[in-house]
Formats: sequence, structure tokens, C-alpha cells
Amino acid sequence: MVDHWSQALVLAQTADTGVRGIAALSARVAYAFMCLTLTWGVLTATGWARRLGERKALRSGHLALAVLTLSFGVIHALAFTFLSANAFDLAHLIVPLLPGSLVRHSLGIVGLEVMLAIAITAGLHRWTAYRRWLWLHRLAYPAVGITALHSLFGAMANGHLALLWLAGITLLVPAMTLSLLRFLPVRMLERVGLIEENV
Ligand code: HEM
Repeated sequence: MVDHWSQALVLAQTADTGVRGIAALSARVAYAFMCLTLTWGVLTATGWARRLGERKALRSGHLALAVLTLSFGVIHALAFTFLSANAFDLAHLIVPLLPGSLVRHSLGIVGLEVMLAIAITAGLHRWTAYRRWLWLHRLAYPAVGITALHSLFGAMANGHLALLWLAGITLLVPAMTLSLLRFLPVRMLERVGLIEENV
């Protein structure tokens, strides 16, 4: 009997190693694409990447990166419903801060849902007031921030931080720097020589 139980436990653990591996791999890929989407989005919106191509092509690149981020993010989240022990049910996957759920998981849920909402409404700018659309699209900045926090705490909980921190910071720094520069007054950017005055 004991042997059957331990056998079952070993089998469940082995199965979960695979699922957890897929969850971690898709999480890392989603994180990388998320940082690149934000970086590319700022470069496209500001025109700072004008030399690299036409605005339409730059925007398509931003869209492709966003789709990849969301696809891998959704695979990562769904993987937790396939665990044989402590699997997430649909409610715990969709609703943040339910009784018994962890704050670090809720950060991932909110981040992913806000990003999905932004993607779904991204095509609506022709039918809605531009200011309202822009307000919603700019929620991407806090969404990326809280998803990065989720990733940090998730990697800590998994014991993977020592492996991931360097790549994580390398991807996040350009995204954060460009986001900060985007909201600095133009005069200040001109004064420090980051952009040239058009005369
Ligand atoms: C419904 C949304 C999400 C849920 C329920 C969720 C859940 C989880 C869970 C359970 C872990 C394992 C560690 C832990 O117990 O905290 C984790 C880790 C992680 N998550 Fe998420 N997550 C979600 C969305 C996202 C998104 C959108 C990203 C990135 C774009 C992401 C990136 C990460 C990363 C990088 C890790 C660490 C992986 C590792 O240790 O290698 N998560 N997440």
C-alpha cells in the first residue's frame, strides 16, 4: 500500500515537473517579449526609431511583440490548471485577491488582464476619442510594472532568481529608461542633448 502511494506521489511529481517547466519557460519568454513590446512601443510612439523604418512597419513590430507576450503569458497562466497537486481553478486564475490566493499571483493576474484589455481595445482608436484610447493604452506602463514585480516574486518563490536576475534586469532597464524619458518634458531632453531642437 505504502509503495503504491509513494509510486503515485513520484508519478505526480514527475508529471508536474514537466508542467512547471512549461510554466517557467513560457513565463520567461513572455517576460522578455513584454519588455521588448514596451521598449519598441515607446520608440514607435515618440518617433525615436524613425531611422529604422516607416511608422507603419514599426507599429506592426510593436503589435507582433504584444501578441507574442500575451500568447506566452496565457500559456504560462493556463499551465497552472494542469498541475496534479494544488492546481489553479478558473476563478483563481481570473479573479485577483480571492480568499486563499497569494498577492504575488494576483499581481500576475491583474498585469495580464490589463494587457489583454489594452490589446483588445488597441484596434478601436478609429471609433473612440483619441484621448480616451490613449489613457487606456498608457495603462500598459503600470501593467508592465506590476507584472515585472510578479515575475520577481515568482522567480524568488521558485528559487530561480539567482539564474534569472541578470537577464531580467538587462531586459527591463531599456524599457524603464525609455518609459521615463517619454514622460520627461521635451525642453529637458533638449537641454541634456538627447533630442535636437527643430529649427
Ligand atoms: C493569470 C496570470 C498569471 C498567473 C496566475 C501566474 C502565476 C504564476 C505562478 C504560480 C508562478 C510560480 C511561482 C509562484 O508560486 O509565484 C509564476 C511565476 C512567474 N511568472 Fe507568472 N502568472 C501570471 C502571469 C504572468 C505574466 C503575464 C508574466 C510575464 C509577462 C509572468 C511571468 C512570470 C515569471 C517570469 C515567473 C518566474 C518563472 C521562473 O521561476 O522561472 N506571469 N507565475
